[in-house]
Amino acid sequence: MAVTEKIVVLDFGGQYNQLIARRVRESGVYCEILNYAVPIEKWKDETLKGIILTGGPNSVYSDDAPRLGNEIFEQGVPVLGICYGMQLINYLCKGQVESAEVSEYGHTVLNTKETALFRNVSRETVVFMNHNDRVSTLPEGFTADASTSNCPVAAFSNTERGIYGVQFHPEVRHSVEGTQMLKNFVFDVCGCAGGYRAEDMIGRMVNEIREQVGNGKVVAGLSGGVDSSVACALAGRVLGHDQLVCVFVDHGLLRKNEARDVMQTYRDNLGLNVIHVDASERFLEALKGVTDPERKRKIIGELFVRVFEEEARKTGADFLLQGTIYPDKIESGMGGSAPIKSHHNVGGLPKASLPQKDHIIEPLPLLFKDEVRAVGEELGIPHHMVWRQPFPGPGLAVRVIGEITREKLDILRECDAIYLEELSNAGLSEQIWQSFAVMTGIRTVGCMGDGRTYGYCIGLRAVTSDDAMTVEAAEIPYPVLKKIVSRIINEVHGVNRVVYDVTGKPPGTIEWE
Ligand code: XMP
Repeated sequence: MAVTEKIVVLDFGGQYNQLIARRVRESGVYCEILNYAVPIEKWKDETLKGIILTGGPNSVYSDDAPRLGNEIFEQGVPVLGICYGMQLINYLCKGQVESAEVSEYGHTVLNTKETALFRNVSRETVVFMNHNDRVSTLPEGFTADASTSNCPVAAFSNTERGIYGVQFHPEVRHSVEGTQMLKNFVFDVCGCAGGYRAEDMIGRMVNEIREQVGNGKVVAGLSGGVDSSVACALAGRVLGHDQLVCVFVDHGLLRKNEARDVMQTYRDNLGLNVIHVDASERFLEALKGVTDPERKRKIIGELFVRVFEEEARKTGADFLLQGTIYPDKIESGMGGSAPIKSHHNVGGLPKASLPQKDHIIEPLPLLFKDEVRAVGEELGIPHHMVWRQPFPGPGLAVRVIGEITREKLDILRECDAIYLEELSNAGLSEQIWQSFAVMTGIRTVGCMGDGRTYGYCIGLRAVTSDDAMTVEAAEIPYPVLKKIVSRIINEVHGVNRVVYDVTGKPPGTIEWE
């Protein structure tokens, strides 16, 4: 099914803009974020059903404030302004703004009226505010639809012209009924029918790959991670073995059976042309004697690119396939938001392997992570692969503290496998963001049978999180931990002590190195 309706979000640099697009898509309507300065002709088409103007850090009165012309209201579709977006509407429609006596930040009680935007929303609800300026005089033809104790016009509308504004952020979860308000806008005000699913994009993405590649040849790096795997599986729908070569660089720092599982899934089950490059000796050699975590990362990163380039060149490919997804693009400044960081997937390519700079295929640049997963399942990638936990590029190298040796890696793999198996048996895996064992490199004294032992101490880590920025140590039930410890000590030779890490982030990080 093709996309038949869309909401366009014009980005003025707010922190939560991605969330607006996510909420709209989650409600079943396709939505795109565009820089506010992209000309209307570029995005207006027959599928356009509504426009959302986002928040942003500026004051509409500052000289360098990002602004639009009044033609934004003449597109024949409703417009919703959020925070800065509302201030901008107010400015364009000649209302007045003043600096509020009290800035509002955080959870705020909102009193609403029975209007289209607040249908099926409580008359007193909690929303998330983050603003200094406020509307003091309404533009002509507008009514005030909601208020807070410090903000008499917390929402306004001119229903005749199809223009709406809210001072708060309905897109963040702290706005308890915010999702309902966005749905009201999308369905009741804009008249969308819904029914969009990310899987519906498969046809469009596949056609684009076919068009871009023609009779050319494509090489892809396959890591077993979700994004690259889905990109490869998608390309595999239209490109045969002679046109798509997936290179799986095995640096020898993967978990137990991981290389085997990747090869089985993508080569045997999905029928892709995958080259398994066993470079573990080269990596271990390069890491010999290295103990500094940052040096480990640098060595692995550089060698990885070199090995990939060597293999990519051998294929004689004209194109490089990448699993860049929507948040990577937005973070790199595709929208109006200030670029936060240059994501490794964008621009950080092994260029030498590419004959032409523009020969990069990115089939997923419009999808969020959850959508990539849904597409992956539709393409037949097994559930556990699609939903697997994040795994760092340098792999077990940052989970073996100090010098990396084959012995330490082997011990770590066994302990890690037992740990993950028992978490899964206890039904805990789904609630955990990441869980893994750590080879501390420390040896401690113990006693087993009648004898003294001098074995390795293994650390166990399990954290809960939404985004890896802040985490809590997972509260694993004690009986489960005891069983894991008992199995590790009994089944893994060379280990005589196990500790559980209860540090949050901050102050710790997820990985030990
Ligand atoms: P930290 O340890 O900084 O980790 O709390 C945050 C998230 O990033 C992952 N991580 C990495 N991923 N290369 C990666 O691709 C790395 O060097 C790296 N270091 C940490 C970590 O597993 C967690 O998901």
